[in-house]
Amino acid sequence: MKNRVLEVLGISYPIIEGGMAFIGDGKLAAAVSNSGGFGQVAAAGHGAKEFERQIEVAASLTDKPFGVNIPIGRMTIDHPYFHIIKAHKRKIKAVSLGAGDPRPFISALKEWGLKVMTVGGTVKHAIHAERYGADLFICEGFEAGGRNSPYELTLFSLLPQVAKAVQLPIAAAGGISNAQGVLAALALGAEGVQIGTRFIASHESPAHMEYKTKLVEAKDMDTIVLERSIGRVNRVIRTNIADEILELEKETPSFEQLYPHINGLRNKAAAIDGNLNEGWLHSGQSAGLIDSVESVQDIIEDIVNGLTINEQKVSAFISELENVIE
Ligand SMILES: Cc1cc2nc3c(=O)[nH]c(=O)nc-3n(C[C@H](O)[C@H](O)[C@H](O)COP(=O)(O)O)c2cc1C
Repeated sequence: MKNRVLEVLGISYPIIEGGMAFIGDGKLAAAVSNSGGFGQVAAAGHGAKEFERQIEVAASLTDKPFGVNIPIGRMTIDHPYFHIIKAHKRKIKAVSLGAGDPRPFISALKEWGLKVMTVGGTVKHAIHAERYGADLFICEGFEAGGRNSPYELTLFSLLPQVAKAVQLPIAAAGGISNAQGVLAALALGAEGVQIGTRFIASHESPAHMEYKTKLVEAKDMDTIVLERSIGRVNRVIRTNIADEILELEKETPSFEQLYPHINGLRNKAAAIDGNLNEGWLHSGQSAGLIDSVESVQDIIEDIVNGLTINEQKVSAFISELENVIE
C-alpha cells in the first residue's frame, strides 16, 4: 500500500492515534506505532516534565515512528513543550498542532526536521495549513470526541469540501472506529484517518476501567456537547455530572463561573481516577460502535482486515450498478 499519509509519516497503515489529553501517553502511542499506525504522545494533561517522560517512554517501547500533539491555544514557540520537542527531535517524526492558530509554528518545526500536521474543522483551516507549509491536514468533524471546532461541521459534508479546496494529504477524524469508517473517509477524499475514542477502550490506554466500560455501554445518543454557552464544543459521554453542567450552562454562566466545572482536573478525576461523580469524560459519537475493550493490535488488525471485506462489498455494488446501466 502506498499513499501520501504513509509516506509523510513512514508507517504501514494510514491510522493515526489522535492527540488525547491525559490518555495519550507513551505506552499507548508505542502500541499504536508497533501495530503499524502512528501513535502520538499528548502534551495536554501532562505537564512539561511528564510530557518529556512520556516521549522517552514511547521511544523506549518502539523503534517505529511516532509523534506528539500540542493544543497550542495562546502558546508561543518559546513554550517549554516546544523546547522539549526540539531537544527530542530525533525521536519524534511529526508534531500535530490543534486548538489554535498553527501558522507561527510550522516553519520552526520543519527547520528542526519534523513533519507538521495541523488539526482543523473548516475549509479555511485546511487552506491555511497548505499555504503555511504543513505536511498533512487532519480534517476533524463534529462527531469527534473532545474539544473541536465551534462551527460544528460534520465530517461527511466537510471532508469532500476540504478535499476539493486543497492538494495537501488529508487524514479524516471524527466518528471513525472501524473499516467502514476508513473506507468512507477514503471515498470522501482522505488518504488516512485519525482515531481517538476507539483507542481509549484498549488494554494499553491509561483510561480508568469505569471510562472504558462507559464507552462499551454507550449507544448512539450517549454523547452530548458541553461548553456551547462559552462558544466552544466539548463532546463528552452523557453522565450525571455532564447533565448537571449542561443545566448550569442554561443560565449562561461566564467563563470564570463555568471554569471550575470544565477544567482539566475535572476530566482527570473521571478519566484516570474513575471518579464519575467528580468529573466528565471526552467521547466521540463512535462510542456507540464500541462493543469491547481490545488490544491496540487487535483494533488495528480488525480495521485493516475489514477493509478488504468491505471493499469487496463496494466492488460488488459497483458491478451491479454497471449491469443496470448496461
Ligand atoms: C479523550 C480525548 C482527548 C482529546 N484531546 C485532544 C488534544 O489534547 N489535542 C487535540 O488536538 N485533540 C484532542 N482530541 C481529539 C482527537 O485527537 C481526535 O481528533 C478525535 O478523538 C477523533 O475523533 P473520534 O474520537 O471520534 O475518534 C481528544 C479526543 C479525545 C477522545
